[in-house]
Amino acid sequence: MEKVIVTRKIPQPFIEQLEAFAEVEVWNESYTPMPRDKFLDSLKDATACFITLSEKIDEAVIESAPHLKVIANMAVGFDNIDVPLVHSKGIIATNTPEVLTETTAELGITLLLSVARRIVEAEQYVQRGEWQSWGPYLLAGKDLYNAKVGIFGMGDIGKAFARRLKGFNTNVMYHNRTRYKDAEEKLGALYVSFDTLLENSDFIVCTAPLTEDTRDKFNEAAFKKMKNDAIFINIGRGAVVDEQALVKALQEGEIAACGLDVLRQEPIDMSHPLLSMSNAVIVPHIGSASMITRNRMIQLCVDNIRLVLNDKQPKTPIKAI
Ligand code: DGY
Repeated sequence: MEKVIVTRKIPQPFIEQLEAFAEVEVWNESYTPMPRDKFLDSLKDATACFITLSEKIDEAVIESAPHLKVIANMAVGFDNIDVPLVHSKGIIATNTPEVLTETTAELGITLLLSVARRIVEAEQYVQRGEWQSWGPYLLAGKDLYNAKVGIFGMGDIGKAFARRLKGFNTNVMYHNRTRYKDAEEKLGALYVSFDTLLENSDFIVCTAPLTEDTRDKFNEAAFKKMKNDAIFINIGRGAVVDEQALVKALQEGEIAACGLDVLRQEPIDMSHPLLSMSNAVIVPHIGSASMITRNRMIQLCVDNIRLVLNDKQPKTPIKAI
């Protein structure tokens, strides 16, 4: 009998799809992860698991799961999975590319405009009852219109982000491990070195995954190279940014503001200095969080599990890294 572990509460119709071919054990909490001990214990007789970013797939997990055939990660990023280890045991890991691209790019634009136009500060200003009259520079921000935007990471999300920028008459630059001629032609994006991106952008948007190449890429030296009125947005992964360096850059005026959907430690520690800075807007990793997209991500995980347990190729396997 196949057995699937689902580490978060997902809607019943998806559970029923899994129950059509497997016994299903669900951690019925939406906002708290399955405790690690429980996860390890449940894996003993599992042949599949449906996980989120909260579950780290490492040696201990693999040792606890002798019958595991497939790990379906409800995310496109998979830095929570030791992929070489998983592959060395013949286990298939899958992710959720494409279905979340547009939704995540929309969050990127939302965050960028919110920071640029100081929306969070403005809303809090009204809530505090400080709105006395119209003022010439009251909560004046920065235009995206005509700005130079640097995109770090030109994968599907970076391209979808660049496409949205076309309506703002921006100049788009990008830096990526691989150069994409299609992006350059279709999106009018100019390929530049990392330093050129840092030195010339009014807005820098990181959409990059976490890899050994991108870890700590935005460090003290990088922030120093940015314009003093630059706005930094991160919708990729938290550990691409040295957060101490970011705090220092904001405090010392090396850059003007930031908007982060992802952090090194999630959830953020409530004593984190970024939380007390009015020029830092932090949201809780909601890039792909629209109802339609979350349903599509769940369906893709369910489909991948069904396919692998039926000895078929999954739709979206994570390739060797
Ligand atoms: C992803 O898919 O990698 C996102 O960060 C989670 O929504």
